[in-house]
Amino acid sequence: MSFELRGLDKLSDQERMDELINFVKIQLDDESDPLALMSNLSSFIMACIKDLNWSGFYFLKDNELVLGTFQGLPACTRLSLDKGVCAKSFRDEKIIKVDDVHEFADHIACDSASNSELVIPLFKQGKVYGVLDLDSPIKNRFTATEVDGFKIIGQMIEEKIYPF
Ligand code: SME
Repeated sequence: MSFELRGLDKLSDQERMDELINFVKIQLDDESDPLALMSNLSSFIMACIKDLNWSGFYFLKDNELVLGTFQGLPACTRLSLDKGVCAKSFRDEKIIKVDDVHEFADHIACDSASNSELVIPLFKQGKVYGVLDLDSPIKNRFTATEVDGFKIIGQMIEEKIYPF
């Protein structure tokens, strides 16, 4: 299985999102191993979506969010459930878009380059078990198109990526 990931720079944000959704669908149809899927999905996101510095997963373990696979600089391995954007998305079971992380009271800065963030909660049989976290060095980076697109991706990967 090979994916054509070159030439995406010529596409609009909507077209990039459509490509990403298409790649995720093909990958989910083709592979069932959660670790392999998680690894490639964080890479597909970095390759398709413009101006990201981090893309990856955190999963609930021992009452904390523990780092899963990701692309980007090394990140905090454990996030407590009462602090930060990921934990808020997890607790509220909602997508959270933060246009300026410096204005989010208890944002956790794993990479000081991050200026905006999008977090998507993940569910198995209706129960939240982790989050997909995206960071950008650009303020106000995430568009409504991308929020809608990542909502779809979150629903597509439900159940299949549950790693434990
Ligand atoms: N910024 C996140 C922490 C995870 S890193 O961005 C990879 C937060 O506030 O929860």
